[in-house]
Amino acid sequence: MTATALRGEVALRHISKTFTLNGQPLPVLRNLSLDIRGGESLAIVGPSGCGKTTLLRLLAGLERADGGQVLIDGRPVQGVGTERAVIYQEPRLLPWLTVLENVAFGLEVRGVPRSLARDRARRYIRLVGLSDFEGAWPRQLSGGMAQRVGIARALTVQPEILLLDEPLGALDAMTKLTMQEELERIWREENVTMILVTHDLEEAIFLADRVLVLSRDPGTVPRLIEVDMPRPRDRSEAGFVEMRRLLMAEFGLH
Ligand SMILES: Nc1ncnc2c1ncn2[C@@H]1O[C@H](COP(=O)(O)OP(=O)(O)OP(=O)(O)O)[C@@H](O)[C@H]1O
Ligand SMILES: [Mg+2]
Repeated sequence: MTATALRGEVALRHISKTFTLNGQPLPVLRNLSLDIRGGESLAIVGPSGCGKTTLLRLLAGLERADGGQVLIDGRPVQGVGTERAVIYQEPRLLPWLTVLENVAFGLEVRGVPRSLARDRARRYIRLVGLSDFEGAWPRQLSGGMAQRVGIARALTVQPEILLLDEPLGALDAMTKLTMQEELERIWREENVTMILVTHDLEEAIFLADRVLVLSRDPGTVPRLIEVDMPRPRDRSEAGFVEMRRLLMAEFGLH
């Protein structure tokens, strides 16, 4: 790495992706270009099936574009990489490992000595507020706690870029609000680039510097909406409410 300013910078250059479904081509993304700053928080919203997960998988290197390039810190993505970590709706913890072991696992499989891996894991378990649960088994955790463990596990490998696919989608409304606040704090403290797919427009406004609005029709140019509000944001504030109205209008909702 040469310039530190580049860390976690993402560039999409004319990305296209077409799937084949029942023998028919299904265009999902067409000629999508976007620059994401290092340390930026970008939310991706859009109707079901518009290609949000596909875009995240392209960024993760789990899927290849038919055309165009994904660049991370100026280098083309060749597949999965340690500078990117993915968080899914379900945390997918290993049931036979404790919280501490689950969080340290990613480092241990990379050959980091056990005691070092566990020290680092403890730091992130503390960051998500679960120090008292290091020895707990996944089945003993609530949904919100399990997802916090998933977040700690992703952060432990110290990625430059966090890719989140509806990470709070399975949580109840109250837990979700608390977790949005935690995610916001973690994003600020850890200085990572956050790319967050969400169905929840308020979540997008609460967390994102910019919101990418995808449409079901890949021929429509995606809209990019700047959320210029001080943090942490107040959901009841006039600017917030206005931004929600604006985003809902993008989907023809009132
Ligand atoms: N491996 C695949 N093969 C064929 N079609 C696929 C494949 N993966 C995704 N698709 C199709 O691509 C389109 C976009 O899917 P994607 O999962 O990216 O949508 P999404 O925006 O994440 O939707 P949701 O909000 O429901 O999660 C869908 O029509 C889906 O059927
Ligand atoms: Mg999806």
